[in-house]
Amino acid sequence: KKIDICFIGGIIMDMTSYMDAFPKPGETKVGHRFEAGYGGKAANQAALAAKLGAKCAMVARVGDDANGRSYIDHFRSLGINVNNIRTSDKSSTGAANIWVDDSGMNCICVILGANLDMTKQDILDAEDTIAASAAVVIGLELDIDIAHFAIQIAGKHKVQCLLNAAPMPKDMHEDFFCIPDVFNVNESEASIATGIAVTDAESAKLAARHLVEKKHCKTVIITLGENGAVFGSNDGAQFVHVPTDPVKAVDTTGAGDAFCGALAFFWAKYPDLPVETIVKKCCDVATMSVLKPGTQASFPSREELPEGFIPA
Ligand code: RIB
Ligand code: NA
Repeated sequence: KKIDICFIGGIIMDMTSYMDAFPKPGETKVGHRFEAGYGGKAANQAALAAKLGAKCAMVARVGDDANGRSYIDHFRSLGINVNNIRTSDKSSTGAANIWVDDSGMNCICVILGANLDMTKQDILDAEDTIAASAAVVIGLELDIDIAHFAIQIAGKHKVQCLLNAAPMPKDMHEDFFCIPDVFNVNESEASIATGIAVTDAESAKLAARHLVEKKHCKTVIITLGENGAVFGSNDGAQFVHVPTDPVKAVDTTGAGDAFCGALAFFWAKYPDLPVETIVKKCCDVATMSVLKPGTQASFPSREELPEGFIPA
């Protein structure tokens, strides 16, 4: 395949403020630091996979503004194919206000902006790129009907399809569950999708089983932050919990994207690795990302990984 992974979804500029604790409604708080950075879930995932050495393409929209131009330059510098990033003339590049407290926890308000201007035609224009990819990753920081269309196009070309159903809408067409080869969500998204309160590995296993048995997902991977991840498939095998090494987090923003980007990398390039091995590697990459501030800025590159982490 000409391309390893095609990412479809959000490009967002992140504006992150660091503070000891979150302000209460009506309160003004003095924080310690401000940082602007490149964000957006699918874009973060693409950056991670590119940093690990995958050939990536991005399908998205930016606004006709400085943030949009800077983002495209940034992606070029990472070697990501930007031919399918359109510039929208009616909305600004997506932007997120992010708060991070001293425990590394975050709160995010994202304005999707130009991402919402994506059309079915954008997906059709990228159809050759999708068909030429080993895997396609679809996120939900765009109009849900366009995401649905993208899933159908990926299905039509029998490309390995990973859905990162984030942010999770209230209602999703059944295709969102049964077409993707991998359904990847975090604990809160898994709770919304199943109605099961996911708080630990045991409840995550119940939710994963529900997604496989009731929603007809093929492989489900639920991330649990510092508790690692749970996965299971429709192959009748056990649902498995993969724990992570305990660390002191500095900034957890984008950790789920580091996980999903790594998942796409190993799923596309090392399809013969056991899922458990892949999930453990994804947990390790996500753990590395929480030890540094920022989203993409905190993602490890191939050279920073331990010897042998990426199979020869
Ligand atoms: O998952 C983290 C990302 O979510 C941030 O980069 C922010 O842009 C929001 O989209
Ligand atoms: Na980080």
